[in-house]
Amino acid sequence: MILSRLSPLLRVPLVKTLTRDALLRMDPEIAHATTINALKLGLAPEQDYPDPPELRTSLCGLELKNPIGMAAGFDKNAEVPKPLARMGFGMVEVGTVTPRPQVGSDKPRLFRIPEAEGVINRMGFNNEGHEAVFARLKDAHVGAILGVNIGANKDSDDFVADYVLGVSRFAEVADYLTVNISSPNTPGLRDLQSDEALKRLLGEVLRARSKAKMRVPILLKIAPDLDEAQLDGIARTIAGTDLDGLIISNTTIGRDAVMGMENATQTGGLSGKPLFDLSTRRLAQMRQRVGALPIIGVGGIHSPESAVQKFAAGADAIQLYSALVFGGLDLLDRIKRGVAAAVRAEGGKSIADLVGLKTDRWAAGTIQL
Ligand code: FNR
Repeated sequence: MILSRLSPLLRVPLVKTLTRDALLRMDPEIAHATTINALKLGLAPEQDYPDPPELRTSLCGLELKNPIGMAAGFDKNAEVPKPLARMGFGMVEVGTVTPRPQVGSDKPRLFRIPEAEGVINRMGFNNEGHEAVFARLKDAHVGAILGVNIGANKDSDDFVADYVLGVSRFAEVADYLTVNISSPNTPGLRDLQSDEALKRLLGEVLRARSKAKMRVPILLKIAPDLDEAQLDGIARTIAGTDLDGLIISNTTIGRDAVMGMENATQTGGLSGKPLFDLSTRRLAQMRQRVGALPIIGVGGIHSPESAVQKFAAGADAIQLYSALVFGGLDLLDRIKRGVAAAVRAEGGKSIADLVGLKTDRWAAGTIQL
């Protein structure tokens, strides 16, 4: 009634705000399920203009219409990659998927930190397993670059074998695969980041890739909770392989940025705005160690400026998730316009002109957002 009296120009933003406010009042996991259902029903806004040409880029031999992706964990079961592509994401990463279905941790397991625009999750890889996700993807024409993020079952006897199964299962349907060894919610998983374990994992995963019909690019997703010696170790280990790139970073188990705030003492991984500085610093530190290896920057992107800084720190492409909880769906649109404007302001023609402009300063910790 009141809505219908408003001018059409005001109506759309008001509906978006109402929806966001309603979602923020719900239990976080119910809000997430509601959002997935809304996307399935075609209720999400669709981008009705072409991406600015400055945003077109290539990554690991893949052509992206824009370098902004939905991070893993939002669409764990590949239910809505197409609607996400229609919303305007240039890449959609589904998963983490494990070989067998898994219920994940006990609820509640997802928490907001409103004061800091942060999220803590201990979902524990709840997902429907390889077969269900493969069935959804095998004939899907997503309309964006499709990443499949693979992991290991919590009760697996051999984590490495689970990743090998993931490569063989999804090599034919994914544009790229992410080997996720950085979730803090599967005990022992992050130990795969240490030298010997990583060497064995990458050896087997890359061997499985060479046996698959397609040479699918494989990226490794790492945690932000690594010191410089550990970053050295990872850089050394991957240098001798034909791994295609890195995703930096997953959530942090640190709480410095949210100390004393509501929900800050919940166990799990922290994401969103309070993760930005840490994940961006680790990204820059890794960029210093890996030369031109492709890196997707993730962690705390919540505004056009934070997106631009992720590229400046050394990211070739970016992903986000948590900020959509607080920022609403027009965030993607604002980020695209802001990043394209930053390219033009540099006198450049493409994203590549922004990449690494401030790597050394981010790595040294002399700038923060
Ligand atoms: C995640 N993330 C995640 N990452 C991953 O590799 N596999 C996964 O299954 C999940 N699951 C997941 C669930 C929830 C609820 C959240 C909030 C996050 C991590 C995510 O992909 C990303 O790396 C971090 O959240 C940092 O980015 P944002 O959220 O700060 O933009």
